[in-house]
Amino acid sequence: LVSQTDAEIDLKPPTPAKPRVPTMDALRERHERLRDQIVAGRRNAVERQHGLGKRTARERLELLLDEGSFVEIDMYRKHQAHGLRMEENKPHTDGVVTGAGTIHGRRVFVYAQDFAIFGGSLGEAHAAKIQKVLDLAISTGSPFIGVNDSGGARIQEGVMSLNGYGGIFQRFVQASGVIPLISVVLGPCAGGAAYSAALADFTFMVRDTAHLYLTGPDVVEAVTGERVTHGQLGGTEVHGEHSGVAAFVHDDEESCLDDVRYLVSMLPANNMESPPQGAPCGATADVRPRFAEIVPVDNSKPYDMREVIAELVDDGEFLETYERWAPNVICAFGRVDGHVVGVVANQPLVLAGVLDVPAPQKAARFVRFCDAFSIPLVTLVDVPGFLPGTDQERSGIIRHGAKLLYAYCEATVPRVQVILRKAYGGAYIVMDSRSIGTDVSLAWPTNEIAVMGAEGAVNVIYRKELAAAGDPAELRAKLVKEYSEKLAHPHYAAERGLVDDVIDPVQTRVAVARALEMLSDKRKPQPQRKHGNVPL
Ligand code: HXC
Repeated sequence: LVSQTDAEIDLKPPTPAKPRVPTMDALRERHERLRDQIVAGRRNAVERQHGLGKRTARERLELLLDEGSFVEIDMYRKHQAHGLRMEENKPHTDGVVTGAGTIHGRRVFVYAQDFAIFGGSLGEAHAAKIQKVLDLAISTGSPFIGVNDSGGARIQEGVMSLNGYGGIFQRFVQASGVIPLISVVLGPCAGGAAYSAALADFTFMVRDTAHLYLTGPDVVEAVTGERVTHGQLGGTEVHGEHSGVAAFVHDDEESCLDDVRYLVSMLPANNMESPPQGAPCGATADVRPRFAEIVPVDNSKPYDMREVIAELVDDGEFLETYERWAPNVICAFGRVDGHVVGVVANQPLVLAGVLDVPAPQKAARFVRFCDAFSIPLVTLVDVPGFLPGTDQERSGIIRHGAKLLYAYCEATVPRVQVILRKAYGGAYIVMDSRSIGTDVSLAWPTNEIAVMGAEGAVNVIYRKELAAAGDPAELRAKLVKEYSEKLAHPHYAAERGLVDDVIDPVQTRVAVARALEMLSDKRKPQPQRKHGNVPL
Protein backbone atom coordinates (compact mmCIF):
# COMPACT_ATOMS: atom_id res chain seq x y z
CA LEU A 1 0.00 0.00 0.00
CA VAL A 2 1.24 3.42 -0.96
CA SER A 3 0.08 6.06 1.48
CA GLN A 4 -1.14 9.36 0.02
CA THR A 5 0.64 12.54 0.98
CA ASP A 6 -1.38 15.57 2.05
CA ALA A 7 -0.38 17.34 -1.18
CA GLU A 8 -1.73 14.48 -3.28
CA ILE A 9 -5.00 14.59 -1.42
CA ASP A 10 -5.33 18.35 -2.08
CA LEU A 11 -4.98 17.76 -5.82
CA LYS A 12 -8.20 15.77 -5.90
CA PRO A 13 -11.40 17.70 -6.64
CA PRO A 14 -13.19 18.59 -3.45
CA THR A 15 -16.09 16.38 -2.55
CA PRO A 16 -19.19 18.27 -3.68
CA ALA A 17 -21.39 19.56 -0.91
CA LYS A 18 -24.39 17.31 -0.56
CA PRO A 19 -27.32 19.12 -2.25
CA ARG A 20 -30.12 20.04 0.09
CA VAL A 21 -33.02 17.70 -0.72
CA PRO A 22 -36.28 19.67 -0.75
CA THR A 23 -39.09 18.27 1.28
CA MET A 24 -42.13 16.77 -0.39
CA ASP A 25 -44.24 19.55 1.05
CA ALA A 26 -41.98 22.20 -0.50
CA LEU A 27 -42.16 20.47 -3.90
CA ARG A 28 -45.91 20.19 -3.67
CA GLU A 29 -46.24 23.80 -2.69
CA ARG A 30 -44.01 24.99 -5.56
CA HIS A 31 -46.00 22.84 -7.99
CA GLU A 32 -49.30 24.12 -6.60
CA ARG A 33 -48.11 27.72 -6.97
CA LEU A 34 -47.19 27.18 -10.61
CA ARG A 35 -50.54 25.52 -11.33
CA ASP A 36 -52.39 28.37 -9.70
CA GLN A 37 -50.44 30.90 -11.74
CA ILE A 38 -51.17 29.07 -14.97
CA VAL A 39 -54.86 28.73 -14.15
CA ALA A 40 -55.20 32.38 -13.08
CA GLY A 41 -53.46 33.70 -16.23
CA ARG A 42 -51.81 37.09 -16.48
CA ARG A 43 -54.03 39.62 -14.75
CA ASN A 44 -53.84 42.27 -17.48
CA ALA A 45 -54.61 39.67 -20.15
CA VAL A 46 -57.68 38.49 -18.26
CA GLU A 47 -58.82 42.09 -17.81
CA ARG A 48 -58.32 42.78 -21.52
CA GLN A 49 -60.41 39.74 -22.42
CA HIS A 50 -63.19 40.82 -20.04
CA GLY A 51 -62.93 44.35 -21.43
CA LEU A 52 -63.70 42.95 -24.90
CA GLY A 53 -66.92 41.46 -23.49
CA LYS A 54 -65.45 37.96 -23.63
CA ARG A 55 -64.74 35.28 -21.05
CA THR A 56 -61.40 33.56 -20.65
CA ALA A 57 -60.85 30.05 -22.00
CA ARG A 58 -61.20 28.52 -18.54
CA GLU A 59 -64.32 30.50 -17.68
CA ARG A 60 -65.87 29.23 -20.90
CA LEU A 61 -65.06 25.62 -20.07
CA GLU A 62 -66.60 26.13 -16.64
CA LEU A 63 -69.86 27.20 -18.31
CA LEU A 64 -69.73 24.43 -20.87
CA LEU A 65 -68.93 21.47 -18.63
CA ASP A 66 -70.55 20.01 -15.52
CA GLU A 67 -69.19 21.66 -12.41
CA GLY A 68 -65.84 20.25 -11.31
CA SER A 69 -65.71 17.71 -14.15
CA PHE A 70 -62.86 19.23 -16.18
CA VAL A 71 -59.68 17.15 -16.38
CA GLU A 72 -56.91 19.14 -18.02
CA ILE A 73 -54.29 17.62 -20.28
CA ASP A 74 -50.99 19.27 -21.31
CA MET A 75 -51.21 22.28 -19.02
CA TYR A 76 -47.42 22.65 -18.95
CA ARG A 77 -46.89 22.47 -22.67
CA LYS A 78 -44.80 25.31 -24.19
CA HIS A 79 -43.84 26.11 -27.73
CA GLN A 80 -40.30 25.17 -28.80
CA ALA A 81 -39.99 27.85 -31.49
CA HIS A 82 -36.83 29.89 -32.05
CA GLY A 83 -36.22 33.33 -33.46
CA LEU A 84 -38.47 36.38 -33.79
CA ARG A 85 -38.07 36.84 -30.01
CA MET A 86 -40.08 33.67 -29.34
CA GLU A 87 -37.52 32.47 -26.74
CA GLU A 88 -38.46 35.45 -24.56
CA ASN A 89 -42.11 34.46 -24.42
CA LYS A 90 -42.86 30.83 -23.63
CA PRO A 91 -46.16 30.74 -21.74
CA HIS A 92 -47.55 27.49 -20.37
CA THR A 93 -50.53 25.98 -22.25
CA ASP A 94 -49.27 27.62 -25.45
CA GLY A 95 -52.59 29.41 -25.81
CA VAL A 96 -55.05 26.55 -25.65
CA VAL A 97 -56.65 24.73 -22.72
CA THR A 98 -57.39 21.09 -23.55
CA GLY A 99 -58.89 18.10 -21.79
CA ALA A 100 -62.06 16.17 -21.00
CA GLY A 101 -65.15 16.79 -18.93
CA THR A 102 -68.80 15.85 -18.78
CA ILE A 103 -72.03 17.40 -20.02
CA HIS A 104 -75.10 16.12 -18.16
CA GLY A 105 -72.85 13.36 -16.89
CA ARG A 106 -71.69 12.24 -20.38
CA ARG A 107 -68.01 12.51 -21.37
CA VAL A 108 -66.81 15.00 -24.00
CA PHE A 109 -63.35 16.16 -25.11
CA VAL A 110 -62.72 19.86 -25.47
CA TYR A 111 -60.31 22.64 -26.27
CA ALA A 112 -60.67 26.34 -25.60
CA GLN A 113 -58.27 28.81 -27.19
CA ASP A 114 -56.81 31.57 -25.03
CA PHE A 115 -56.72 34.84 -26.97
CA ALA A 116 -54.46 36.31 -24.28
CA ILE A 117 -51.56 34.15 -25.48
CA PHE A 118 -50.31 35.08 -28.98
CA GLY A 119 -53.90 36.01 -29.89
CA GLY A 120 -54.92 32.35 -29.52
CA SER A 121 -52.89 31.70 -32.67
CA LEU A 122 -52.00 28.13 -33.53
CA GLY A 123 -48.38 26.99 -33.51
CA GLU A 124 -46.87 23.51 -33.42
CA ALA A 125 -47.41 22.77 -29.71
CA HIS A 126 -50.88 24.35 -29.70
CA ALA A 127 -51.86 22.15 -32.65
CA ALA A 128 -50.35 19.02 -31.07
CA LYS A 129 -52.47 19.60 -27.96
CA ILE A 130 -55.69 19.85 -30.01
CA GLN A 131 -54.69 16.78 -32.02
CA LYS A 132 -54.09 14.81 -28.81
CA VAL A 133 -57.59 15.46 -27.44
CA LEU A 134 -59.14 14.84 -30.85
CA ASP A 135 -57.38 11.45 -30.97
CA LEU A 136 -58.72 10.67 -27.50
CA ALA A 137 -62.24 11.73 -28.49
CA ILE A 138 -62.11 9.39 -31.50
CA SER A 139 -60.61 6.43 -29.63
CA THR A 140 -63.07 6.76 -26.72
CA GLY A 141 -66.09 7.54 -28.93
CA SER A 142 -66.85 10.90 -27.29
CA PRO A 143 -68.22 14.14 -28.76
CA PHE A 144 -65.58 16.78 -29.49
CA ILE A 145 -66.14 20.49 -28.83
CA GLY A 146 -63.68 23.22 -29.83
CA VAL A 147 -64.05 26.75 -28.46
CA ASN A 148 -62.32 29.09 -30.90
CA ASP A 149 -60.86 32.53 -30.23
CA SER A 150 -57.85 32.76 -32.51
CA GLY A 151 -55.89 34.85 -34.99
CA GLY A 152 -55.24 31.69 -37.06
CA ALA A 153 -51.87 30.25 -38.00
CA ARG A 154 -49.12 31.58 -35.68
CA ILE A 155 -47.10 33.70 -38.01
CA GLN A 156 -43.81 33.25 -36.08
CA GLU A 157 -43.96 29.45 -36.45
CA GLY A 158 -44.39 29.53 -40.22
CA VAL A 159 -45.02 26.27 -41.99
CA MET A 160 -45.19 24.31 -38.71
CA SER A 161 -48.43 26.19 -37.95
CA LEU A 162 -49.87 25.25 -41.31
CA ASN A 163 -48.76 21.66 -40.74
CA GLY A 164 -50.55 21.77 -37.37
CA TYR A 165 -53.80 22.82 -39.02
CA GLY A 166 -53.50 20.07 -41.61
CA GLY A 167 -53.21 17.49 -38.82
CA ILE A 168 -56.33 18.85 -37.17
CA PHE A 169 -58.33 18.86 -40.41
CA GLN A 170 -57.24 15.31 -41.19
CA ARG A 171 -58.52 14.18 -37.79
CA PHE A 172 -61.79 16.11 -38.18
CA VAL A 173 -62.46 14.26 -41.41
CA GLN A 174 -61.57 10.89 -39.84
CA ALA A 175 -63.92 11.70 -36.96
CA SER A 176 -66.77 12.90 -39.18
CA GLY A 177 -69.76 10.58 -38.84
CA VAL A 178 -68.04 8.73 -35.97
CA ILE A 179 -68.35 11.30 -33.16
CA PRO A 180 -70.29 14.58 -33.11
CA LEU A 181 -67.99 17.53 -33.90
CA ILE A 182 -68.97 20.94 -32.56
CA SER A 183 -67.18 24.26 -33.09
CA VAL A 184 -67.97 27.27 -30.96
CA VAL A 185 -66.71 30.63 -32.22
CA LEU A 186 -66.42 33.21 -29.45
CA GLY A 187 -63.91 35.66 -30.88
CA PRO A 188 -61.91 35.97 -34.06
CA CYS A 189 -61.64 32.69 -35.90
CA ALA A 190 -59.32 33.59 -38.71
CA GLY A 191 -57.44 31.73 -41.40
CA GLY A 192 -56.98 28.04 -40.73
CA ALA A 193 -59.22 28.23 -37.66
CA ALA A 194 -62.17 28.93 -39.96
CA TYR A 195 -61.90 25.45 -41.46
CA SER A 196 -62.34 23.84 -38.05
CA ALA A 197 -65.71 25.59 -38.04
CA ALA A 198 -66.54 24.54 -41.58
CA LEU A 199 -65.62 20.88 -41.00
CA ALA A 200 -67.62 20.58 -37.77
CA ASP A 201 -71.14 19.16 -37.74
CA PHE A 202 -72.46 22.27 -36.00
CA THR A 203 -70.90 25.69 -35.54
CA PHE A 204 -72.07 28.17 -32.91
CA MET A 205 -71.33 31.92 -33.04
CA VAL A 206 -71.99 34.85 -30.70
CA ARG A 207 -73.23 38.18 -32.07
CA ASP A 208 -70.73 41.08 -32.21
CA THR A 209 -67.71 39.25 -30.73
CA ALA A 210 -67.42 36.27 -33.11
CA HIS A 211 -65.80 36.82 -36.50
CA LEU A 212 -65.08 34.04 -38.90
CA TYR A 213 -63.05 34.61 -42.06
CA LEU A 214 -60.17 33.24 -44.07
CA THR A 215 -58.36 36.60 -44.20
CA GLY A 216 -58.93 39.63 -41.98
CA PRO A 217 -59.98 43.13 -43.15
CA ASP A 218 -56.36 44.33 -43.48
CA VAL A 219 -55.46 41.57 -45.94
CA VAL A 220 -58.74 42.06 -47.80
CA GLU A 221 -57.96 45.74 -48.29
CA ALA A 222 -54.37 45.06 -49.33
CA VAL A 223 -55.37 42.45 -51.89
CA THR A 224 -58.67 43.74 -53.27
CA GLY A 225 -58.88 47.34 -52.09
CA GLU A 226 -62.21 46.59 -50.40
CA ARG A 227 -62.63 48.21 -46.98
CA VAL A 228 -64.78 46.20 -44.62
CA THR A 229 -65.29 45.82 -40.89
CA HIS A 230 -64.74 42.52 -39.08
CA GLY A 231 -68.51 42.17 -38.74
CA GLN A 232 -69.23 42.85 -42.41
CA LEU A 233 -66.61 40.34 -43.40
CA GLY A 234 -67.34 37.49 -41.04
CA GLY A 235 -69.95 38.37 -38.43
CA THR A 236 -73.05 36.43 -37.47
CA GLU A 237 -75.14 38.02 -40.20
CA VAL A 238 -72.73 36.72 -42.85
CA HIS A 239 -72.52 33.18 -41.50
CA GLY A 240 -75.90 32.82 -39.82
CA GLU A 241 -77.92 34.16 -42.77
CA HIS A 242 -75.90 33.94 -45.98
CA SER A 243 -72.96 31.52 -46.03
CA GLY A 244 -74.58 28.73 -44.02
CA VAL A 245 -71.48 28.15 -41.86
CA ALA A 246 -73.06 29.00 -38.48
CA ALA A 247 -75.83 26.64 -37.44
CA PHE A 248 -76.56 28.57 -34.24
CA VAL A 249 -76.25 32.28 -33.45
CA HIS A 250 -76.55 33.60 -29.91
CA ASP A 251 -76.55 36.99 -28.21
CA ASP A 252 -74.08 36.05 -25.49
CA GLU A 253 -71.57 33.38 -24.49
CA GLU A 254 -73.68 32.05 -21.65
CA SER A 255 -76.77 31.22 -23.72
CA CYS A 256 -74.50 29.92 -26.49
CA LEU A 257 -72.66 27.44 -24.26
CA ASP A 258 -75.96 26.47 -22.65
CA ASP A 259 -77.33 25.53 -26.08
CA VAL A 260 -74.19 23.52 -26.84
CA ARG A 261 -75.04 21.52 -23.71
CA TYR A 262 -78.66 21.15 -24.90
CA LEU A 263 -77.53 19.94 -28.33
CA VAL A 264 -75.09 17.42 -26.81
CA SER A 265 -77.90 16.13 -24.56
CA MET A 266 -79.77 15.01 -27.70
CA LEU A 267 -76.89 13.38 -29.54
CA PRO A 268 -75.39 9.93 -29.15
CA ALA A 269 -71.73 9.94 -28.08
CA ASN A 270 -70.76 8.16 -31.29
CA ASN A 271 -72.12 6.32 -34.32
CA MET A 272 -72.27 2.97 -32.50
CA GLU A 273 -74.67 4.26 -29.83
CA SER A 274 -78.32 5.27 -29.93
CA PRO A 275 -79.33 8.84 -29.05
CA PRO A 276 -80.09 9.36 -25.34
CA GLN A 277 -83.58 8.05 -24.64
CA GLY A 278 -85.98 10.23 -22.67
CA ALA A 279 -88.90 8.89 -20.66
CA PRO A 280 -91.98 7.95 -22.75
CA CYS A 281 -94.76 10.50 -22.16
CA GLY A 282 -97.86 8.94 -23.65
CA ALA A 283 -97.45 10.40 -27.17
CA THR A 284 -99.01 7.28 -28.73
CA ALA A 285 -102.36 8.38 -27.33
CA ASP A 286 -101.87 12.16 -27.35
CA VAL A 287 -104.59 13.64 -29.59
CA ARG A 288 -103.88 17.31 -30.38
CA PRO A 289 -106.79 19.42 -31.73
CA ARG A 290 -104.37 22.33 -32.33
CA PHE A 291 -102.97 20.67 -35.46
CA ALA A 292 -106.26 21.23 -37.26
CA GLU A 293 -106.45 24.83 -36.08
CA ILE A 294 -102.92 25.86 -37.12
CA VAL A 295 -103.07 24.76 -40.75
CA PRO A 296 -105.58 26.50 -43.08
CA VAL A 297 -107.39 24.21 -45.52
CA ASP A 298 -106.85 26.76 -48.31
CA ASN A 299 -103.38 25.75 -49.45
CA SER A 300 -102.51 29.24 -50.64
CA LYS A 301 -102.74 30.56 -47.08
CA PRO A 302 -99.50 30.56 -45.04
CA TYR A 303 -98.99 29.41 -41.44
CA ASP A 304 -96.02 28.93 -39.17
CA MET A 305 -94.74 25.34 -39.45
CA ARG A 306 -92.91 25.87 -36.15
CA GLU A 307 -96.29 25.72 -34.44
CA VAL A 308 -96.92 22.33 -36.04
CA ILE A 309 -93.51 21.08 -34.87
CA ALA A 310 -94.22 22.33 -31.35
CA GLU A 311 -97.43 20.24 -31.31
CA LEU A 312 -95.58 17.21 -32.60
CA VAL A 313 -92.66 17.06 -30.17
CA ASP A 314 -92.59 16.39 -26.42
CA ASP A 315 -93.21 19.47 -24.26
CA GLY A 316 -93.28 21.64 -27.41
CA GLU A 317 -89.47 21.81 -27.17
CA PHE A 318 -87.16 21.65 -30.16
CA LEU A 319 -83.76 22.96 -31.19
CA GLU A 320 -83.76 24.55 -34.61
CA THR A 321 -80.55 24.64 -36.66
CA TYR A 322 -79.74 27.41 -39.18
CA GLU A 323 -82.77 29.41 -38.06
CA ARG A 324 -81.97 32.32 -40.39
CA TRP A 325 -80.25 30.57 -43.27
CA ALA A 326 -82.75 29.12 -45.77
CA PRO A 327 -85.69 29.69 -43.40
CA ASN A 328 -88.07 28.26 -46.03
CA VAL A 329 -87.05 24.85 -44.73
CA ILE A 330 -86.85 24.03 -41.03
CA CYS A 331 -84.40 21.51 -39.56
CA ALA A 332 -84.72 20.80 -35.86
CA PHE A 333 -84.01 18.24 -33.17
CA GLY A 334 -86.76 17.29 -30.78
CA ARG A 335 -88.19 14.27 -29.01
CA VAL A 336 -91.32 12.24 -29.74
CA ASP A 337 -92.31 10.04 -26.81
CA GLY A 338 -88.76 10.29 -25.54
CA HIS A 339 -87.10 9.29 -28.87
CA VAL A 340 -84.79 11.93 -30.35
CA VAL A 341 -85.84 12.78 -33.91
CA GLY A 342 -84.61 15.09 -36.65
CA VAL A 343 -87.50 17.08 -38.12
CA VAL A 344 -87.24 18.43 -41.67
CA ALA A 345 -90.17 20.64 -42.66
CA ASN A 346 -91.18 23.11 -45.33
CA GLN A 347 -92.02 26.55 -43.93
CA PRO A 348 -95.05 28.04 -45.78
CA LEU A 349 -94.41 31.33 -43.99
CA VAL A 350 -91.23 31.98 -46.02
CA LEU A 351 -91.38 31.98 -49.85
CA ALA A 352 -94.45 29.73 -49.48
CA GLY A 353 -92.06 26.95 -48.46
CA VAL A 354 -90.58 26.61 -51.96
CA LEU A 355 -87.19 24.89 -52.34
CA ASP A 356 -84.51 27.28 -53.61
CA VAL A 357 -80.71 26.94 -53.77
CA PRO A 358 -79.87 27.14 -50.04
CA ALA A 359 -82.85 25.08 -48.74
CA PRO A 360 -81.83 21.62 -50.01
CA GLN A 361 -78.21 22.24 -48.95
CA LYS A 362 -79.34 22.94 -45.40
CA ALA A 363 -81.74 19.99 -45.27
CA ALA A 364 -79.29 17.58 -46.93
CA ARG A 365 -76.55 18.24 -44.38
CA PHE A 366 -79.05 17.75 -41.58
CA VAL A 367 -80.41 14.51 -43.03
CA ARG A 368 -76.86 13.16 -43.44
CA PHE A 369 -75.99 14.06 -39.85
CA CYS A 370 -79.13 12.35 -38.51
CA ASP A 371 -78.43 9.29 -40.64
CA ALA A 372 -74.81 9.06 -39.46
CA PHE A 373 -75.89 9.21 -35.80
CA SER A 374 -78.97 6.93 -35.84
CA ILE A 375 -81.47 9.75 -35.38
CA PRO A 376 -84.85 8.93 -37.01
CA LEU A 377 -86.21 11.46 -39.49
CA VAL A 378 -89.68 13.00 -39.51
CA THR A 379 -90.40 15.01 -42.65
CA LEU A 380 -93.34 17.43 -42.70
CA VAL A 381 -94.32 18.29 -46.26
CA ASP A 382 -96.13 21.35 -47.57
CA VAL A 383 -94.16 22.35 -50.64
CA PRO A 384 -95.21 24.04 -53.89
CA GLY A 385 -92.08 22.88 -55.75
CA PHE A 386 -88.59 24.06 -56.63
CA LEU A 387 -88.20 27.80 -57.27
CA PRO A 388 -88.00 28.29 -61.05
CA GLY A 389 -85.92 30.88 -62.90
CA THR A 390 -82.59 31.72 -64.49
CA ASP A 391 -81.08 32.88 -61.23
CA GLN A 392 -81.82 29.55 -59.60
CA GLU A 393 -80.58 27.53 -62.57
CA ARG A 394 -77.34 29.52 -62.79
CA SER A 395 -76.82 29.11 -59.07
CA GLY A 396 -77.06 25.35 -59.46
CA ILE A 397 -80.51 24.44 -58.14
CA ILE A 398 -80.18 21.08 -59.91
CA ARG A 399 -76.87 20.27 -58.21
CA HIS A 400 -78.03 21.51 -54.80
CA GLY A 401 -81.43 19.84 -55.04
CA ALA A 402 -79.61 16.60 -55.86
CA LYS A 403 -77.85 16.82 -52.50
CA LEU A 404 -81.13 16.43 -50.64
CA LEU A 405 -82.27 13.70 -52.98
CA TYR A 406 -78.99 11.87 -52.41
CA ALA A 407 -79.13 12.34 -48.65
CA TYR A 408 -82.61 10.85 -48.31
CA CYS A 409 -81.97 8.04 -50.79
CA GLU A 410 -78.94 7.04 -48.75
CA ALA A 411 -80.50 7.37 -45.27
CA THR A 412 -81.07 4.08 -43.44
CA VAL A 413 -82.53 5.46 -40.21
CA PRO A 414 -86.29 5.16 -39.56
CA ARG A 415 -88.06 7.66 -41.81
CA VAL A 416 -91.61 8.98 -41.39
CA GLN A 417 -93.18 11.39 -43.87
CA VAL A 418 -96.29 13.47 -43.14
CA ILE A 419 -97.88 15.33 -46.06
CA LEU A 420 -99.96 18.19 -44.70
CA ARG A 421 -101.07 19.96 -47.86
CA LYS A 422 -99.20 20.55 -51.14
CA ALA A 423 -96.57 18.14 -52.39
CA TYR A 424 -95.83 18.98 -55.99
CA GLY A 425 -93.43 17.63 -58.56
CA GLY A 426 -89.75 17.11 -57.86
CA ALA A 427 -90.13 18.71 -54.46
CA TYR A 428 -92.60 15.95 -53.51
CA ILE A 429 -90.08 13.29 -54.50
CA VAL A 430 -87.22 15.01 -52.69
CA MET A 431 -89.09 15.51 -49.41
CA ASP A 432 -88.73 11.85 -48.42
CA SER A 433 -91.38 10.34 -50.68
CA ARG A 434 -92.15 6.64 -50.78
CA SER A 435 -90.21 6.31 -54.04
CA ILE A 436 -86.94 7.35 -52.41
CA GLY A 437 -87.39 5.13 -49.39
CA THR A 438 -89.53 6.62 -46.65
CA ASP A 439 -90.70 3.86 -44.31
CA VAL A 440 -94.07 5.27 -43.30
CA SER A 441 -95.93 7.90 -45.32
CA LEU A 442 -98.88 9.61 -43.67
CA ALA A 443 -101.08 12.29 -45.23
CA TRP A 444 -103.73 14.66 -43.97
CA PRO A 445 -107.09 14.84 -45.79
CA THR A 446 -105.85 18.21 -47.10
CA ASN A 447 -102.99 16.52 -49.01
CA GLU A 448 -102.57 17.37 -52.66
CA ILE A 449 -99.84 15.28 -54.25
CA ALA A 450 -99.39 15.98 -57.94
CA VAL A 451 -96.97 16.80 -60.71
CA MET A 452 -98.07 20.41 -60.31
CA GLY A 453 -100.98 22.51 -58.97
CA ALA A 454 -104.34 22.22 -60.76
CA GLU A 455 -104.20 25.67 -62.44
CA GLY A 456 -100.73 25.10 -63.90
CA ALA A 457 -101.58 21.57 -64.98
CA VAL A 458 -104.75 22.64 -66.82
CA ASN A 459 -102.90 25.46 -68.60
CA VAL A 460 -100.38 22.96 -69.96
CA ILE A 461 -102.54 20.01 -70.94
CA TYR A 462 -105.55 22.00 -72.25
CA ARG A 463 -103.69 24.91 -73.84
CA LYS A 464 -105.29 24.43 -77.26
CA GLU A 465 -108.82 23.89 -75.88
CA LEU A 466 -108.55 26.98 -73.69
CA ALA A 467 -107.30 29.12 -76.62
CA ALA A 468 -110.25 28.02 -78.76
CA ALA A 469 -112.89 28.34 -75.99
CA GLY A 470 -115.56 31.03 -76.15
CA ASP A 471 -115.39 31.46 -72.37
CA PRO A 472 -111.89 30.32 -71.32
CA ALA A 473 -112.44 31.23 -67.64
CA GLU A 474 -115.49 29.00 -67.37
CA LEU A 475 -113.75 26.13 -69.15
CA ARG A 476 -110.64 26.53 -66.99
CA ALA A 477 -112.71 26.37 -63.78
CA LYS A 478 -114.43 23.20 -65.01
CA LEU A 479 -111.12 21.57 -65.99
CA VAL A 480 -109.44 22.54 -62.72
CA LYS A 481 -112.30 20.93 -60.79
CA GLU A 482 -112.07 17.79 -62.92
CA TYR A 483 -108.28 17.61 -62.49
CA SER A 484 -108.54 18.08 -58.71
CA GLU A 485 -111.21 15.38 -58.36
CA LYS A 486 -109.37 12.91 -60.59
CA LEU A 487 -105.69 13.39 -59.77
CA ALA A 488 -105.34 15.42 -56.61
CA HIS A 489 -107.96 14.03 -54.27
CA PRO A 490 -106.93 13.04 -50.72
CA HIS A 491 -106.92 9.28 -51.35
CA TYR A 492 -105.31 9.22 -54.80
CA ALA A 493 -101.82 8.42 -53.49
CA ALA A 494 -103.13 6.11 -50.73
CA GLU A 495 -105.06 4.06 -53.31
CA ARG A 496 -101.73 3.47 -55.04
CA GLY A 497 -99.76 2.62 -51.89
CA LEU A 498 -97.65 5.77 -52.03
CA VAL A 499 -99.26 6.95 -48.80
CA ASP A 500 -99.75 4.36 -46.07
CA ASP A 501 -102.55 6.11 -44.23
CA VAL A 502 -104.67 9.23 -44.50
CA ILE A 503 -104.94 10.46 -40.94
CA ASP A 504 -107.04 12.95 -39.04
CA PRO A 505 -104.67 15.91 -38.43
CA VAL A 506 -105.40 15.82 -34.70
CA GLN A 507 -103.88 12.30 -34.65
CA THR A 508 -100.53 13.41 -36.10
CA ARG A 509 -98.49 13.10 -32.90
CA VAL A 510 -100.13 9.75 -32.14
CA ALA A 511 -99.47 8.38 -35.64
CA VAL A 512 -95.85 9.59 -35.78
CA ALA A 513 -95.09 8.20 -32.31
CA ARG A 514 -96.59 4.82 -33.31
CA ALA A 515 -94.67 4.78 -36.59
CA LEU A 516 -91.39 5.50 -34.79
CA GLU A 517 -92.13 2.74 -32.31
CA MET A 518 -92.88 0.37 -35.16
CA LEU A 519 -89.59 1.26 -36.88
CA SER A 520 -87.36 1.31 -33.83
CA ASP A 521 -85.51 -1.89 -34.76
CA LYS A 522 -85.00 -0.98 -38.41
CA ARG A 523 -81.82 -2.35 -40.00
CA LYS A 524 -80.86 -1.72 -43.60
CA PRO A 525 -77.50 -3.06 -44.78
CA GLN A 526 -75.76 -1.01 -47.45
CA PRO A 527 -73.88 -2.28 -50.51
CA GLN A 528 -70.09 -2.54 -50.19
CA ARG A 529 -68.33 0.42 -51.78
CA LYS A 530 -65.56 2.82 -50.89
CA HIS A 531 -67.98 5.74 -50.79
CA GLY A 532 -70.67 7.23 -52.97
CA ASN A 533 -70.11 10.39 -54.97
CA VAL A 534 -72.48 12.86 -53.33
CA PRO A 535 -73.04 15.93 -55.56
CA LEU A 536 -71.05 18.57 -53.66
C1 HXC B 1 -49.24 35.44 -34.19
C2 HXC B 1 -50.95 36.82 -33.58
C3 HXC B 1 -51.74 36.36 -34.66
C4 HXC B 1 -51.16 35.39 -35.52
C5 HXC B 1 -52.87 37.82 -33.57
N1 HXC B 1 -51.70 37.71 -32.94
N2 HXC B 1 -52.91 37.01 -34.63
N3 HXC B 1 -49.72 36.35 -33.35
N4 HXC B 1 -49.92 34.95 -35.24
N5 HXC B 1 -51.85 34.88 -36.55
C6 HXC B 1 -51.25 38.45 -31.75
C7 HXC B 1 -51.02 39.91 -32.02
O1 HXC B 1 -49.72 40.08 -32.51
C8 HXC B 1 -51.18 40.48 -30.62
O2 HXC B 1 -50.01 40.25 -29.89
C9 HXC B 1 -52.25 39.62 -30.02
O3 HXC B 1 -52.31 38.43 -30.81
C10 HXC B 1 -53.63 40.26 -30.11
O4 HXC B 1 -53.84 40.69 -31.44
P1 HXC B 1 -54.38 42.14 -31.79
O5 HXC B 1 -54.17 42.31 -33.24
O6 HXC B 1 -53.78 43.14 -30.86
O7 HXC B 1 -55.91 41.97 -31.42
P2 HXC B 1 -57.17 42.52 -32.18
O8 HXC B 1 -57.02 43.95 -32.51
O9 HXC B 1 -58.34 42.12 -31.35
O10 HXC B 1 -57.23 41.74 -33.59
C11 HXC B 1 -57.36 40.33 -33.59
C12 HXC B 1 -57.17 39.78 -35.04
C13 HXC B 1 -55.84 40.33 -35.61
C14 HXC B 1 -58.34 40.26 -35.89
C15 HXC B 1 -57.20 38.29 -34.97
O11 HXC B 1 -54.81 40.04 -34.68
C16 HXC B 1 -55.50 39.73 -36.93
O12 HXC B 1 -56.01 40.17 -37.96
N6 HXC B 1 -54.62 38.72 -36.92
C17 HXC B 1 -54.23 38.07 -38.16
C18 HXC B 1 -55.40 37.27 -38.69
C19 HXC B 1 -55.09 36.50 -39.94
O13 HXC B 1 -55.05 37.03 -41.05
N7 HXC B 1 -54.77 35.22 -39.74
C20 HXC B 1 -54.54 34.37 -40.85
C21 HXC B 1 -53.29 33.65 -40.58
S1 HXC B 1 -53.00 32.65 -42.00
P3 HXC B 1 -49.51 41.24 -28.73
O14 HXC B 1 -48.19 40.66 -28.34
O15 HXC B 1 -49.42 42.57 -29.38
O16 HXC B 1 -50.56 41.15 -27.67
C22 HXC B 1 -53.74 31.19 -41.70
C23 HXC B 1 -53.61 30.27 -42.86
C24 HXC B 1 -54.02 28.87 -42.52
O17 HXC B 1 -54.31 30.93 -40.70
C25 HXC B 1 -54.78 28.30 -43.68
C26 HXC B 1 -55.10 26.86 -43.46
C27 HXC B 1 -56.14 26.40 -44.45
